[in-house]
Amino acid sequence: MGVKEPLTVLSIETSCDETAAAVIKDGKILSEQVASQIDIHKKFGGVVPELASRNHLKKLNLLIQSALEEAGLEFNDLEAVAVTAGPGLEGSLLVGLTTARTLAMLLDIELVEVDHLEAHLFAAKFSDVPAPPGIGLVVSGGHTRLIYIKEWGNYEIIGRTRDDAAGEAFDKVASIVGLGYPGGPAIEKAARRGDGKRFKFPVSNLGDSLDFSYSGIKTSVLYKVKYDLKGELSSRDAADIAASFQYAALTPLVENAVRAALKYKTKWIFAGGGVSANSALKERLTEAATREGIKAFFPAKSHSTDNASMVGACGAFYLRKS
Ligand code: KG4
Ligand code: ZN
Repeated sequence: MGVKEPLTVLSIETSCDETAAAVIKDGKILSEQVASQIDIHKKFGGVVPELASRNHLKKLNLLIQSALEEAGLEFNDLEAVAVTAGPGLEGSLLVGLTTARTLAMLLDIELVEVDHLEAHLFAAKFSDVPAPPGIGLVVSGGHTRLIYIKEWGNYEIIGRTRDDAAGEAFDKVASIVGLGYPGGPAIEKAARRGDGKRFKFPVSNLGDSLDFSYSGIKTSVLYKVKYDLKGELSSRDAADIAASFQYAALTPLVENAVRAALKYKTKWIFAGGGVSANSALKERLTEAATREGIKAFFPAKSHSTDNASMVGACGAFYLRKS
């Protein structure tokens, strides 16, 4: 069934540790709300799935109400509900899905279930990215993928991690050097005062493939800390490890993304997902792409990490197509 324009969509994201709701109208963000669970999971050093779902349940209804208020709308103004259906933590996804299905049923409006990774690509809609073809680099806590975007909704996965995700490597290394959770922002911060040339961590080299591998670098950091530094880390050591690791971890992302754009003859690269918030990645990818006449685009920080606006943009796209 088609939906009349402009389309007013309530969107919901609960796949991991951010509870988020937004209202999108005709491609514009009317409101967006995010409740981060970082403080809840921090003391456990990572996301505890059971606590994540309980807290989504606690916060989601209030966030939806706040998103509607901020947009100056009421439930009856909504024309559709978009929700992340996966991948993610099962219990957390169920909270968002059940809420979205119930709302759509009671309001008698359309429901669209969205793929979380495709939604990270749709953050491009808020960053002035030109029309496809282009290359998408999705770098999150659970996934690392290079995607040839032939057109919106028509993709080919051309590179993926063979083991750990890039964000996962940031999180694990942060935990090894005692920088806490979430690891990405902590490593980025420590790296600013560190010497990135002090340690040589191995950068995965998978030949002509556009795939990635992050398990070697994680083990290499672990051995460095445990055996060479005997587990005794000064804050200088931690900063130097952070800077050296970050340098090595970003290299394959930058190189493969640019190689992909050249191979598929596209003029732009869009990086999405939590790791795309990293300033060093932005600088290095922009520089490497520009050298080849390719433009690199990044979301605003709030649209790099999990958010509901990207889910709304993706959902609206499929509703318009239907
Ligand atoms: O997309 P996202 O918010 O959630 C998932 O879909 O997984 O990504 C979270 C991941 C975490 O691994 C986090 O450490 C990483 O993104 N991250 C970063 C930065 N901010 C978040 N990694 C590197 N530098 C950052 N500034
Ligand atoms: Zn994500």
